[in-house]
Amino acid sequence: KKAAIITAPFSGGQPKGGVELGPEYILNAGFEKQISSLGWTTQVKSPLEGTNYESLKTNEKDKYGVKNAQIVSECCKRIHDSVYSSLEAGELPITIGGDHSIGTATVSAALEHNEDTCVLWIDAHADINTPLTTESGNLHGCPISFILGIDKESYPPEFSWVPAKLKANKLAFIGLRDVDDGEKKILREHKIPSFSMYHVDKYGIGKVVEMALDKVNPERKSPIHLSYDVDAIDPSFVPATGTRVEGGLSLREGLFIAEEVAQTGLLSSMDIVETNPLLAETEEHILDTVSAACAIGRCAMGQTLL
Ligand code: ARG
Ligand code: MN
Ligand code: MN
Ligand code: MN
Repeated sequence: KKAAIITAPFSGGQPKGGVELGPEYILNAGFEKQISSLGWTTQVKSPLEGTNYESLKTNEKDKYGVKNAQIVSECCKRIHDSVYSSLEAGELPITIGGDHSIGTATVSAALEHNEDTCVLWIDAHADINTPLTTESGNLHGCPISFILGIDKESYPPEFSWVPAKLKANKLAFIGLRDVDDGEKKILREHKIPSFSMYHVDKYGIGKVVEMALDKVNPERKSPIHLSYDVDAIDPSFVPATGTRVEGGLSLREGLFIAEEVAQTGLLSSMDIVETNPLLAETEEHILDTVSAACAIGRCAMGQTLL
């Protein structure tokens, strides 16, 4: 059992500063040790080292309607290569963000390694805007459309390297509660299995995870990429994140998803993104958020309550 913790200290997919400090805080909280005590050999890889991407960030939209395409694309390429080589080396890559724009990198690497991979996207948001539908121009709201290849003609040329290998029936969302109108249309048109907080309330989280897996992985034999945006969990438990939305998963519901994925034995790669320690109002906010991020990783990597 080998794991690679891949740091993605990057904030260029959205305007707020601080999310680039996520990996540092999570590692300082002892994350690597926590994973190795579960029986994994671990190593930390830092593919973005050597470039100060923060200093290259702007708040201007380009002619395609998005911001910072160049640096997002470059970071994604570096993270993609790191995740891909980990997978090829038989490691389970855990990419720690950073904002969710890096999902473009991790998911595309997972699918290049094994095209049968399915994706569980745990998030308050669908992150499926295209450059045509995005209002904010923030690329952390767009990674899924790039991986699916939706509206390809609208992408900045910086993203032409992204292999659009994901099929709409191999992707499911859990935790949604702030989805833009243009995104709702895409979800419907592509019939993407989407479980919002309404479904969690109606069926319970146990049933929802089962339904999501039945859709994307009916025979329970495909590898699973778990892309976990910490804002899926309610801001009362996870306050230090950039796009908080009330009415989210309880901490236990959030961890249950990771535990249930671990139970399948099919987890092959994961992301834990959008921890922003600078958005905390108190020391306790930082602690709660960083602890939740670590707990998501531990649960997915096999930690059980008993
Ligand atoms: N839908 C909004 C947008 O496109 C919010 C996206 C939030 N994404 C995230 N990864 N937290 O700007
Ligand atoms: Mn989100
Ligand atoms: Mn919104
Ligand atoms: Mn997200």
